[in-house]
Amino acid sequence: MYDAFPWLMHHFPGPHQEVFAYNHFMHNLVMNEVHIQERQNAGDPQDLIDFYLAQIAKTKDDPTSTFNTDNMVQTAVDLLLGGTETTSTTLLWALLYMVKYPEIQERVQREIEAVLEPSQLISYEDCKKQPYTNAVIHETLQYSNVTSVGVPRQCVRNTTLLGHHINKGTLVLPNLHSVVYDSEHWETSWKFSPDHFLDLDGNFVNKEAFFPFSAGHRVCLGEQMAQVELFIFFTNLLRAFSFQIPEGVKEIDLEYILGAILQPHSYKLCAIPR
Ligand code: HEM
Repeated sequence: MYDAFPWLMHHFPGPHQEVFAYNHFMHNLVMNEVHIQERQNAGDPQDLIDFYLAQIAKTKDDPTSTFNTDNMVQTAVDLLLGGTETTSTTLLWALLYMVKYPEIQERVQREIEAVLEPSQLISYEDCKKQPYTNAVIHETLQYSNVTSVGVPRQCVRNTTLLGHHINKGTLVLPNLHSVVYDSEHWETSWKFSPDHFLDLDGNFVNKEAFFPFSAGHRVCLGEQMAQVELFIFFTNLLRAFSFQIPEGVKEIDLEYILGAILQPHSYKLCAIPR
């Protein structure tokens, strides 16, 4: 029914109404920003919204143009939604793994000490000198797999995929979970192990089956940005602090909580200055 009458869903009560309310909130948030920037930055574009506004103005007489206010707001909302919760939740998982596996945390810290000065500004370039830290971040992305399914697609014509007939109009969700835990590609897929991304000499190795950002035309738009953010935040945090569970907490539960993305259980962690 959603397919045939999407507008109808706006009138039915139910939990999806909350999603519409959040969507409305995000659109208003971006629209306010658009109004501010329209006033301030005309003639001196600074960011995506400014450049988009300029493009709308440039193409206003082209009936085939897709540059319009609705698409601009939706683009900004997509970037905000896609780029915040995913990266911050992955960082939460990373800290939880460090608490659960203190020997891995210590090895990351030894590597940081060996290659970075204590007050040196950390840049993404440094990950080349930190293969172990890089492997821990990749394993965190892989193992926590926060997105778990890709964004929905709709089949534009009847087709056959791996012997399965798929009708035109069918919604298809890529199951990333099945890939990241595929034992054909990962020696110990059930276990958090940075070794998945290291060769025998301790060099970082990229893996073909590394899929937390998906692949193909719809691959995550922010993969590079997420990698940079994760490396800089994680390295800064582990250089400044050692993380541990508070006294009295015996076990860390690594099972995820199912939601829009896979969340860790909530824990208070102690950040001990180093
Ligand atoms: C740890 C961080 C992140 C993870 C694990 C992640 C993962 C993903 C995945 C699995 C998809 C779906 C791709 C598909 O269906 O084939 C996706 C889409 C997307 N991501 Fe990310 N993402 C992350 C961070 C970011 C950041 C930082 C941004 C932007 C600033 C971003 C923007 C987007 C957008 C706009 C899409 C939709 C692309 C499309 O539909 O064509 N993501 N992401």
